[in-house]
Amino acid sequence: MRQIQFNDQPTSIIGMGTWRIGEDPSKGSAEIQTIQYGLNHGITLIDTAEMYGEGAAETLVGEAIKDFDRQKFQLVSKFYPYHATPKLIKNSLEHSLKRLQTDYLDLYLLHWRGETPLAETISGLVDMKKAGYIKDFGVSNFDINDLKELYSVPNGDQCKVNQNLYNIGSRGIEYSILPWQKEHDISFMGYSPFGSDKNAYLHPQEIITDMANQKHITIFQLLLAWVIRNNDLLSIAKTSSLEHLKDNLGSIDVRFTDDELELLDKYYPAPTKETPLDVI
Ligand SMILES: NC(=O)c1ccc[n+]([C@@H]2O[C@H](COP(=O)([O-])OP(=O)(O)OC[C@H]3O[C@@H](n4cnc5c(N)ncnc54)[C@H](OP(=O)(O)O)[C@@H]3O)[C@@H](O)[C@H]2O)c1
Repeated sequence: MRQIQFNDQPTSIIGMGTWRIGEDPSKGSAEIQTIQYGLNHGITLIDTAEMYGEGAAETLVGEAIKDFDRQKFQLVSKFYPYHATPKLIKNSLEHSLKRLQTDYLDLYLLHWRGETPLAETISGLVDMKKAGYIKDFGVSNFDINDLKELYSVPNGDQCKVNQNLYNIGSRGIEYSILPWQKEHDISFMGYSPFGSDKNAYLHPQEIITDMANQKHITIFQLLLAWVIRNNDLLSIAKTSSLEHLKDNLGSIDVRFTDDELELLDKYYPAPTKETPLDVI
């Protein structure tokens, strides 16, 4: 498995997403098997949230990981912006840990910005870190100005990751967010490499199919391989299917020539100016 330095430790370049997992009981055992296959085949990060199925995704992840060595993978969860005060963070975290059948999270993220002042949220997260319930914390769906503001509040510079949408059709973060995060040593997690369910947030053009055919890979392998092409960020992909997970793991070995990357840039250009953050 290809690894990158993420959250100050070697981590698989692909993580497993869990949005819309655990919601259909008839798929439960297949979903558990899929997560376990991923952990047994080198994936060392699982991403979840209290929002996903209102706890159902965390419950399913808890079942899947309970017999694994907890120190061998990172568990990331997120809390709602309307649970972002110190008291409510503690309450959400206690519920998440219970559902996940674990006693700590590696990373706890503010899912997106809400009304609570950042200073208050960070103070609650620092408390949870001191208490040992979380190893570290971060944010999600933060634009460049949000990140700068975060850095201006007490302990805001303890933020370890920002998780934003990133796929070939949504490249805005390349302009200033990614460089800024590198400069400040904040790891980047890209979500929805396939544009989410049914590619709803990415419209694969013919070039994707043509190039995938030429390279004898699937469209999904091409899309994921493109996101991780520079080895500088972690991509979280979701699947409920073991066959799809095996397919996605195949993207690790896919490499692009300079010509191929240039051709893709013509259809999906890199940003040349600041653009508002794309969010799902
Ligand atoms: N922080 C945030 O605000 C935020 C927002 C969105 C997502 N996320 C995180 O990022 C994760 C990934 O994003 P996402 O779930 O939106 O979408 P995604 O990973 O871009 O796409 C998931 C979709 O692709 C399908 N798929 C996956 N591999 C496939 C393959 N090899 N062949 C065919 N279909 C395949 C899945 O169907 P099957 O399940 O049937 O394979 C599912 O419909 C989420 O699960 C979540 O953990 C975070």
